[in-house]
Formats: sequence, C-alpha cells, structure tokens
Amino acid sequence: MMDWTDRHCRFFHRQLSPRARLYTEMITTGAILHGDLNRLLDFNAQEHPVALQLGGSEPVDLARAARIGEQWGYDEINLNCGCPSERVQKGAFGACLMREPDLVAQAVGAMQDAVSIPVTVKHRIGVDHEDHYGFVCDFVGALFSVGCRVFIVHARGAILKGLSPKENREVPPLRPEVVVRLKQDFPEAVFVLNGGITTVAQAQEAVGVDGVMLGRAAYHDPWVLRDLDCALFSSDSAALRPAQRQDILPMLQQYFESELRRGTPAKHMTRHWHGLFHGQPGARHWRREICEGRMGPQELFDKLSFDFQGASRAQ
Ligand SMILES: Cc1cc2nc3c(=O)[nH]c(=O)nc-3n(C[C@H](O)[C@H](O)[C@H](O)COP(=O)(O)O)c2cc1C
Repeated sequence: MMDWTDRHCRFFHRQLSPRARLYTEMITTGAILHGDLNRLLDFNAQEHPVALQLGGSEPVDLARAARIGEQWGYDEINLNCGCPSERVQKGAFGACLMREPDLVAQAVGAMQDAVSIPVTVKHRIGVDHEDHYGFVCDFVGALFSVGCRVFIVHARGAILKGLSPKENREVPPLRPEVVVRLKQDFPEAVFVLNGGITTVAQAQEAVGVDGVMLGRAAYHDPWVLRDLDCALFSSDSAALRPAQRQDILPMLQQYFESELRRGTPAKHMTRHWHGLFHGQPGARHWRREICEGRMGPQELFDKLSFDFQGASRAQ
C-alpha cells in the first residue's frame, strides 16, 4: 500500500506472522529504471517471502524492472492492475490495464521470460461499466494463457471517473462470489481474495478461494496477522509466532537501534507501529507516543507498562 507498506512496516508485520506473504507498495517502472534503487528496493532479509509490486504498462520496461527486482532478491513480481488513481490513469497503468488484456498478457509474458520467480497480477473485478463476469473472466483468461497462475483480486470494480482512490476502496460493492467463480473456471490457478476482510472469522469464511489478502486491517490492527497465522497455517510456524504483543518488542527495539545507526529517522519506523496494542488497555498512550518517535518500542513499553497492566503507576 502506497506510503504505508514500506520496508519498516513489512519488517514489523513479519514479526507478527512468520508465514504471510508481504507485498511492497506499488513502485513504477520509471522509478526503478531511473531512481535510487537502494531507497526503493532495499529490504531486510527477515521480510521473506516478499513480493515486489510493479506499476507500468510497457512490456520492455516491466521486464527490465522485474529482472532488477529478482536480482535484488524479491520472491515474486506482482503487476498492479487495480489502482484507480488519476495519476496512474494518466500513465495508462493500474486498473485501466484491465481494458487491455492483450497488452497485459504481453507484459506478463515478457516479465516471465526475464525472471525465474513467479509473476502474479493484482486486479479488480471490473472497470466502470465493464463489470460483468465476462470482462474479468476474459482478462484472467488472457493472462492464464501466457502462464500466469496467481491472481490477487480486489473483489470490487474500479470507477475511474468520479471516485477518489479512497472511495474506490469503499463505494463499489464487494462481490467475492466473482472470485469464487473465477476459481471454478480456472481451477489450476491460485486466487487470493482481497477487500474488506478484517477478522480471522471473515478470512476463514472465504471458502472457494485459495487465500486472502488483508490491506487496511493489517495496518490498523496488525495483531490480526498473528491471529491469522495461527488460524491458517499449521503448527510449523508456532514457535516463531509471538504469544503476546510485547514479545516482538526486543526485536523491534534492536531493529530501531540498528536503523538509527544507518541514519533512518525514528519516525519513519515508529509511525507504522501505532496499531500494535489496538484495542488493549494503554493503546491510546502507546499510539500517541510511539508516533512521536522519541523512544524505541521496548523503551516506550517499559515506560508505559503501568497502562498495559490496566493499573496506575505505583509511586
Ligand atoms: C493507503 C493505501 C494505499 C494502497 N496502495 C496500494 C498499492 O500500492 N498497490 C495495490 O495493489 N493496492 C494498494 N492499495 C489497495 C489495497 O491493497 C487493497 O486492495 C484495498 O485496500 C482493499 O483491501 P482491504 O479492504 O483489505 O484494505 C492501497 C490501499 C490503501 C488504503
């Protein structure tokens, strides 16, 4: 998610779920081909498995960017065909690419030729008035025919004129049954359902698909990632999972200190950690103070621990 899931956020999320696949925010091919790769692509080894999401539409550029992503160590290259923002429309990529299945198929083919890691696509179920099943089915079919086997589907249409990106995540109705139907029509492909999933129960109710992707809920209430890891993955990652929220603080503190030594501003990290104690006693204090970035997470917890115990500090 743009401006949200940077490397500091992903490192944090990885502490909560050893198994979830993490995605970068969308990075345009132009940025990768002409920008500062260290700043754009650097990530911590603990983030694996981690996918690089690309924004672009030129097959040659996408192939070059995908190769750079693979060389950088990413585990998957994902193409964004779901973003409805005006800026992205002007660049003729994101959700408007759903209207050009042949071009997307050519781009995915070029990326597949350029890398040996999986190339996947994230898309919507329709664009503007083209929201009938045949439209999304033809789009998936074109990509399936060139070998794409993983589709992450935000199960609502994108309205390209008249709705902001935020409204495009709320106004068009969610239709998860479309993703289930895609899975029935392309049983050899993997379909990951995205949109509106906020709880473990909702994720478990998502039958007929191969997986779920959480966006906003994972950011605002990240502990849900830990609960999902418990519910969806077998006991093999149990030993790596935190039993309680504060269990991840020593690792976060270590990360915080080592990044400060590298020159990373504290707030670049701490702004992502505000939701760790979501719904717990002391959450408000935590949220306010961690975002200020004056203290590392363990230091702050130690200072506030009276709040977390639900009792006032003994004088
Ligand atoms: C601030 C923000 C930035 C986003 N940026 C991206 C992005 O870069 N790439 C992408 O595929 N989706 C992006 N999304 C959309 C989410 O990945 C997701 O599809 C959408 O929020 C619906 O899922 P949710 O209901 O679980 O949040 C973004 C969402 C938000 C809130």
